[in-house]
Formats: sequence, structure tokens, C-alpha cells
Amino acid sequence: DASDVEKGTYDHYMLKEIHEQPGVMRNIIQNYQDDNGELKIDKAIIDDVAKADRIYIVACGTSYHAGLVGKEFIEKWAGVPTEVHVASEFVYNMPLLSEKPLFIFISQSGETADSRAVLVEAKRLGHKSLTITNVPGSTLSREADHTLILHAGPEIAVASTKAYTAQIAVLAILSQVVATAHGKDTGVDIIPELGKVTTAITAIVDDAPKMEQIAKDFLETTRNAFFIGRTMDYYVGLEGALKLKEISYIQAEGFAGGELKHGTIALIEEGTPIIALATQEKVNLSIRGNVKEVVARGANPCIISMEGLEHDNDTYVIPVVHEMLSPLVSVVTLQLISYYAALHRGCDVDKPRNLAKSVTVE
Ligand code: G6P
Repeated sequence: DASDVEKGTYDHYMLKEIHEQPGVMRNIIQNYQDDNGELKIDKAIIDDVAKADRIYIVACGTSYHAGLVGKEFIEKWAGVPTEVHVASEFVYNMPLLSEKPLFIFISQSGETADSRAVLVEAKRLGHKSLTITNVPGSTLSREADHTLILHAGPEIAVASTKAYTAQIAVLAILSQVVATAHGKDTGVDIIPELGKVTTAITAIVDDAPKMEQIAKDFLETTRNAFFIGRTMDYYVGLEGALKLKEISYIQAEGFAGGELKHGTIALIEEGTPIIALATQEKVNLSIRGNVKEVVARGANPCIISMEGLEHDNDTYVIPVVHEMLSPLVSVVTLQLISYYAALHRGCDVDKPRNLAKSVTVE
């Protein structure tokens, strides 16, 4: 509850929560590791996840975007087919389920009614469920078979930041453990990799003035903005666009870079800001090709890349981390850019209009 949590020296909860992310990563590393440095997740959870022939991730909003990244971990590392669904759609339009499905509910609050409606139905059908939440004892946690806790500390700002990165980190750890249960060696030593992520996030929050400048340069007066990326970067772009919409009211959309030419490019005008993410080697050149396409139509490009993949004149270069974990780092730049864009446009950052922190109606 906001009354119990102080903003300290920060002007807004959102800014404080963005800055807390290195600490949250350290908490997760600590809580999901035993004394021997081995990953630690309840055996009953590992068994149920490892038994599943398909995983159905169900969530809303920012948690849905974390689920998109989580699917990549589960499929690429653990080798289990995974679908990600928006809860409010799933309820009315349930996909064909596999023989042994496992449901993962991702919810910061653990109280979202849309997600709960799916959980009720999954239970009615006799399926196993796991809730990943920040709130122990929350409804989704109590009602699912299993819970994994985010250890992010209370999140007060309506726009979710540290819960998103916590969700991705916990999904990464879970995927590694499930991979091991399936006898797979992913070649990824996740604890040190998350350690590198922590250092990289620290470097970015220390660079907040630079993000403020980017917000001024690209978003001070615009009425719209587009986020593009491919693969993992596309998912982060969706989250970046949601963050910006939520708190600055700039009309923002995230797109798969290659999809622009199939319609959205019609919206590009002189000066339209395009925020492009380039943290994935195999799509680095193709996303830069997409940037050229929009620049030729007058767009104002803001390119956020990763060390080792950067080109001259990139707007911001994040420190190098494991490619699959780059969302944990690149998103922090977008959180800060959105924060400063909203701040300079005079918006109520912590309590945006029309939104609630947890939505307990369907
Ligand atoms: C609300 C919030 C969003 C959040 C979504 C899902 O709409 O405004 O920020 O992402 O609910 O919340 P949950 O608690 O289930 O993650």
C-alpha cells in the first residue's frame, strides 16, 4: 500500500521503482539459489512443469509482454512448446489444449480478474497451474497449484517496471531448471549472466540524464511514436510503447520491424519518432534496414543497440549481456525515456488517467 512505502529522495514511485531494479535482480539471484550456488525451485513445481507437453502462459498488460519473452526461454532453453495468451481473450476463445497442458499465470498483483477467470476454467478442466506473482497470498497465488514469487518489493506506480524485469528473470531461472529436468544443457550459466544484467541495469539508471535528453529530443512535442524491433526486441518494443502510452498519452505502437512495410509505414511523416531496438545479432542488419526505410520517409530515428552490435551514431548503446537476456536491460532505457517524456509533458506519472494498478473486474 502506497502509505507504507516511501518515495525517499525520488520525485515519483515510478522513478524509484526503475532505480530499484538492480536490487531486485540481486534479490532474485539470492532467493532462487541454494547455499551451493545451485538454482533452487520447489521439486513439485519442477515436476509439474517438466511433465507438461505444452505450456500456456496467460497474462494481461505488461505481464503479458513479460510472457512473450518467457516463451522464448521456455522453448529455446527447455524445449517445451509454449503459447502466450491475453487472458481476456483466452476466456472467450480458448485454444485447443494439448494433452498435458500446464498453465502459467503471470501477474504482478495476483489479483487480475481476467487472469483469474482463466485459472478458474483451467482448474475446472483439471489442469495444473503455476502463478508467478509479486504478492504472496494473492488470489492467483492461493488458487493455483504453485507459486513463484518475484521478490520485487511493493510496486506502487501504476505503470509496471520492476515487476516486468523480475518476471523475466524468474522465467529465465525457471526455464533453466526445467531444461535441466529434461536433461538439456543450455550452455547458459544463468546466475552469472543475471549478475551481468544487474551491472548493466545499474549503468543505465546511472545514465538517467542521458535518457532524459533522449525524451526531450524525440518525444517532447510529438503526438505519436513507433517502436520497432525484431524477435526479442519486438517484444520489448511492445512494452516500451505501452509504457509511453500509459503515462505520457502519446499514441505509441510497437511493431515487428519487417511488418512496417505492410501497412504502418503509411503513418510515417516528417519528424515521426521511431525508436528502434537493435540488441540481437541475427536481426541487427535487417532492423537497420527497416530504420533506413522509415528515415527515407522523414522519420526521426532513435536507435538503441547493444555493445558489439552498435553502428556509428546510435542514440544509446547498452552494455553487452547474454542476447536472450537483453530485454532486461534494453527495457530500462525505455522505462526511463517514457518517464521523462511524461514528466516533461506535465503528466501525473504515478497515477495516469483511466488506469488502475490492479484491475479486479473482467
Ligand atoms: C493493470 C495495470 C497494468 C498491468 C495489468 C496486469 O491494467 O495497469 O500495469 O500490467 O493490470 O496486472 P497484473 O497485476 O496482473 O500483472
